[in-house]
Amino acid sequence: MPRHFLTGEELERDELRALVARAAELKADPLASSALRGNSVALVFEKPSTRTRLSMEAGVFELGGQPIVLRSGELQISRGESLRDTAMVLGRHVAAIGIRTGPDADVEELALHSDVPVINLLTADHHPIQVLADLLTMQETFGSLDGLKLAYVGDGNNVARSLAIVGARAGIEVAIASPAQFTLPDDVPATKTTDPAEAVADADVVYADVWVSMSDSEESAAARRSALGPYVLDDALLDRAADGAIALHCLPAHPGEEITAEVLYGDRQRIWDQAENRRHSAKALLELLVAAPA
Ligand code: CP
Repeated sequence: MPRHFLTGEELERDELRALVARAAELKADPLASSALRGNSVALVFEKPSTRTRLSMEAGVFELGGQPIVLRSGELQISRGESLRDTAMVLGRHVAAIGIRTGPDADVEELALHSDVPVINLLTADHHPIQVLADLLTMQETFGSLDGLKLAYVGDGNNVARSLAIVGARAGIEVAIASPAQFTLPDDVPATKTTDPAEAVADADVVYADVWVSMSDSEESAAARRSALGPYVLDDALLDRAADGAIALHCLPAHPGEEITAEVLYGDRQRIWDQAENRRHSAKALLELLVAAPA
């Protein structure tokens, strides 16, 4: 049975911690591993991407493998071929499949019928591969994940859910501040509040994401911006967090909306390191799922 990475719940705490440590090693020596030598990895993108596509393509290459990007409309899925048949064919050619799509059920269906690992590259409800980079960024900033608190402010979206799930797995405290109508369900393992100041108290990391996601309609955008207005990541909010707290954002950002330009480009952020860390953490995940380190 292949090992998949669909929500992050597939990894135990020790494995997550080891993955973050391995990502740090690969960041220090990017060509240290040839774990994918002679292998290809299919990367299916049914939605736009900058960071995920770049980090996966470059990461597979650095591991000695060949990335094969398949955009929406290029697969016979677009003409009705089933996910089951697609999974069974892809597995005859590649060592792993990454997919960015909408419904989580589509990724689960692909994984169900795949003989090779399937990696979620973002769905409507989850973005776990992003959180691996976030954990690496936190570890390299603070030296350890032990005792850290992350506060997410804004829409209770796929990134917030994955921060809660994967953060809990990794052993960090996660608090989420969202408007009542955009909060996450009760079963998501995080402290939830509608008050950003309450969430960021004693937090080591204050995290923001877009207010209007790719899956949201233009009709709902105005209502979202109105409700999320008090949830801006600015210097005043960072001042309420722990001494030495940093700002993170998974990007793309909208400076002047969910985060101020002062924070996005200021000296209390680690956002651009976080974007780089997508590659190093993705490589550590590929090593874990596909092959032992060389
Ligand atoms: N954070 C993130 O997933 O970025 P992209 O949408 O550009 O891949």
